[in-house]
Amino acid sequence: MRRGAQLYEGKAKVVFATPDPGLYVQLFKDDATAFNGLKKGTIAGKGSVNCRMSAALFGLLEGAGVRTHFVELLSDREMLIRAVRIVPLEVVIRNRVAGSLAKRVGRPEGEAIPRGPVIELYYKDDALGDPLLNRSHIEAFGIADTPTVDEIEGKARAVNGVLVPFFRSVGLDLVDYKLEFGRALEGGELLLADEISPDTCRLWDAASGERMDKDRFRRDLGGVEEAYQEVIGRVLGAAGSVAS
Ligand code: TMP
Repeated sequence: MRRGAQLYEGKAKVVFATPDPGLYVQLFKDDATAFNGLKKGTIAGKGSVNCRMSAALFGLLEGAGVRTHFVELLSDREMLIRAVRIVPLEVVIRNRVAGSLAKRVGRPEGEAIPRGPVIELYYKDDALGDPLLNRSHIEAFGIADTPTVDEIEGKARAVNGVLVPFFRSVGLDLVDYKLEFGRALEGGELLLADEISPDTCRLWDAASGERMDKDRFRRDLGGVEEAYQEVIGRVLGAAGSVAS
């Protein structure tokens, strides 16, 4: 599919139009940022890892009945996607305490969440630093309507029901992760969008507890590229056998 005009450039991805108004191309970059762009760097091979991992997981989720924007891989860092208008909410699903939740509730990282998962909704707005919202904010300001928020939460739980056992099967603990949803420009269906990758997930090795995700970059832990390659190797090994 021929790439048309660039529509959007974010910190880690670029989206292009195509000759078909219902389809976009999403290109994954090696650029890495953290803390809302304050920390910048490059993770060699990240674009390819994140693109191929997202493709594999979207395929797995489609097979489980969760509709996504994914159409097909075009190269190791480009995918064809259904054109969507992103709902400006970052949906964080937490199966275990870590990161900002540890600070918010004063609990140690790694602690179990008694009646989890916790689902949080953040306002996708870089200028504001993506603040946490509650449903009243979302409804009062028309950021999304109530049926859409309900549908997003339901889909987030369905995604979690697929991804937790999948990652467990490859020896990874899916501690928390961020999802985005969009409405298809053609038909208006709510689709899982964006990416699911070591940039957007906390993945801890189930045996050692070692962090295998972007926290290695955020927290200067070293071994960033190696962790991304280990994760994609495990995911593609298992997703390949699920798909066949
Ligand atoms: P947090 O603990 O910093 O709030 O992050 C929760 C999860 O969301 C974690 O898996 C990383 C992911 N995340 C993103 O994908 N993008 C972001 O901008 C942030 C802050 C977190």
